[in-house]
Formats: sequence, structure tokens, C-alpha cells
Amino acid sequence: MTKPKKKTGDDKSLTLLTGATGFIGSRLARRLAGQGQHLALLCRPGSAEALEQKIQNWPTQAPPPRILLGDLDQPKLGLTEQDRRELLETCGKVFHLAARYDLRLDDQAIRAINVDGTARVLELAADCAKQPRVHHMSSIAVSGDAGGVYAETDFDVGQQSLHAYGQTKFDAEALVRQSGLPCSIYRAGVVVGDSKTGEMDKVDGPYYVFRALRLIRRVPGASRLPMIIPRDDDDSFHLVPVDYVVDAMAHLADLPELDPLACWHLCDPNPASFRQFYSAALDAYDLHGPRIGRPVQRLFRLLCKPGPFAVVKQVGDMLDMPAEMLRHMLLDVRYDTQATEEALADSEIQCPALLPLVPLLVDYFETHLK
Ligand SMILES: NC(=O)c1ccc[n+]([C@@H]2O[C@H](COP(=O)([O-])OP(=O)(O)OC[C@H]3O[C@@H](n4cnc5c(N)ncnc54)[C@H](OP(=O)(O)O)[C@@H]3O)[C@@H](O)[C@H]2O)c1
Repeated sequence: MTKPKKKTGDDKSLTLLTGATGFIGSRLARRLAGQGQHLALLCRPGSAEALEQKIQNWPTQAPPPRILLGDLDQPKLGLTEQDRRELLETCGKVFHLAARYDLRLDDQAIRAINVDGTARVLELAADCAKQPRVHHMSSIAVSGDAGGVYAETDFDVGQQSLHAYGQTKFDAEALVRQSGLPCSIYRAGVVVGDSKTGEMDKVDGPYYVFRALRLIRRVPGASRLPMIIPRDDDDSFHLVPVDYVVDAMAHLADLPELDPLACWHLCDPNPASFRQFYSAALDAYDLHGPRIGRPVQRLFRLLCKPGPFAVVKQVGDMLDMPAEMLRHMLLDVRYDTQATEEALADSEIQCPALLPLVPLLVDYFETHLK
């Protein structure tokens, strides 16, 4: 890949962004506006009010964004003819983050948004006069059950998806790769709260562990209860704070002289293992009883077999937890981040170490999230 240099200056073309009401997209939109970009935010009619409220907290010097009503699920993105025409003439960049992110949904429920919606965004970009680069938010979920080192240059290595969400993210990335358009693909790990404030919008991934520990802490004498923890470290846990994801995307997207297809892994280069994360979470919840190391991977493997998994799924539904998360616990995969680290080397953007952040994430969760 060409060694990228930082671009200077700015242009007045419109940057189309999808997913501006979402956890990552709302922060990225604010960040890009802060860089002086003129944003057009594609937003479903029912979410426009929420988006307007978010925009009120943007830096006052940022150019005010346009809100374009639309829907990934509609032909031509449901845009009015006038909005579409304006985009075709003036759109200089596209950030596509909108998706349905839920491990529990089946293929039928999410394909129309995650795959067909991506196809519509690519169609629009292909018709634009200024040949905008498409910045596509992908996910490490595309690596499915691949093991070992998964490189930024890897895509289809013969892996099987772990769930419908992972399959749709794989299929969407395939469309982006085949489009022939200049594209940047960002594969983020499991995104957690802000590394400075702990701020988080939803219960997801490791926050289900916090939720379980919150319940355990209510048991009388909980602080001295013996707790089972994984006996061994493994490479199954890939958490990344949202501010790193947003800062890295904004910086990488602003680099000129990129290859027509660039792919970045927005992951911790030195990920903590689940055992280390879990121990830190037990500390944060003042659960200081004896820790008994067990090979829990073996138990997870058993629970993921079809019969037991149906029961795990029922229990998960009762507790509002996606049982599909268990499948991730069986992986032993490391996401190579070399190209990303090299491209960020001249910036101050680095993925913060996760373990010291656990008390902050727990604190925010306890104060703000159910
Ligand atoms: N969160 C993670 O850990 C993670 C990790 C890796 C990759 N990603 C990827 O990052 C992206 C953003 O994830 P997130 O966690 O920020 O998701 P999120 O909070 O659930 O936000 C999803 C966004 O997509 C929009 N959207 C959904 N359906 C739409 C439709 N039919 N038309 C237009 N917009 C629609 C939502 O708008 P409404 O407000 O109208 O619903 C919302 O703005 C996704 O592509 C996801 O796959 C996420």
C-alpha cells in the first residue's frame, strides 16, 4: 500500500453519511463536522427529530449539516428527486455506517438493510459526478470462524459466518470490494464506551458481563463468593473504545494517495484476553472471593452444540442477552493491525489499553444503563 500523507485544505463538496443517529455514526458525524466537512445525513423520517437534537450539541463553528430524509430499505434510498440530484452533483465522499446490528436477528430481517442497503449506497456513489470514495463500516464479524492471524488484506479465507449479522456484513463488504469504486473498509472490533468518559449508548458485548455481575453483587455476601474464571488466556476478546474508532476513521479517511481499495482493522493490537477482562470486571464490582480457574472453553463448546444451544438461546431471550455471543468465545483469532498502525503513526491516535478502562466503563454502565 502507498505510504499515505496527511491531506491539507478542505473542499466544499458534500459528505454523505448514513447512520448519523447511531452509536458510532453520531460521533463520527460530529467529528467530521468539526473538521469543517459539509455533511448530508441520510436519516429515516422517524429518527429526524432525534438527529436534530444530537446536532444541537455539535461545535458551533461546524458547518450546519443537511438532513436528508431517506431509508436504506427503499429504492434509490428513498431520497427525494431533488436531494438525489444534489448529491449526484456535489457528493465528494460517502461514509456508510447505517446497518442493523443485532446478533439475534435472522438473515431475512437484516439482509434488506445490511446488504441491499449497501448496494443502494454504492449505486448512488457510482452515479455521482465527483467519483466519491466510499468509506464503508465493516466489522471483524466478517472473519466468521477463521482462526489464527486475520490480516487487513484477508477477506474470504474459507470461513463460515457465526450468525446472520456476520454473514450480511461479509456480503456487504463483498459488494463494496466488487464495486470498482474507490473504497476504504473499516473493520472495527466490538465497540465499547468512550475511553475518556466511559460514555456508551447501549448494552452490548461485554456489557452483558457487567449486567450479570450487577446481579451477582446483589447476592448477600457476594464480595467473598468464589467465582469461576477461564483458566487460560485466549485471543477471543476484541474490544475497542468508540473514540478510537471515530478518531482513526476520521484520520484515515482524510489521507490522500490511498490505494483504490484500502482496508483497516480498528482493533486493539494487543487485545486483553477474556480471562483478563473478566478478572478486571470482577475487581470493578468488588467481587474479591477466590477465583477458580476452569477450562470454560470446553463448556462453551458444549453449549454451542445444536441441542444445548437451543436452550441457551431461550435463556438468553429471557435475560435479553444474545446467545450468539457464545460462539465468539470459541474463536482464537488475532486481527493484524499493521497497516492501520503505520497509517496512524504520524498522528497521536492510538488504541488505548482496555484493562485500565474497565472501572470507567463499569462506572458509566452503573450510572446510566439498565
Ligand atoms: N457497535 C459495534 O460494536 C460495531 C462493531 C463493528 C462494526 N459495527 C458497524 O458499525 C456501524 C454502526 O454500528 P452502531 O453500533 O453505531 O449501530 P447503531 O447504534 O445500531 O446505529 C445504526 C444506525 O443505522 C441506521 N439505520 C438502521 N436501519 C436503517 C434504514 N433502513 N435506513 C437508514 N438508516 C438506518 C439507524 O438509524 P435509526 O436511528 O433510524 O434506527 C442508526 O443510525 C454498523 O455498520 C455496524 O455493523 C458496529
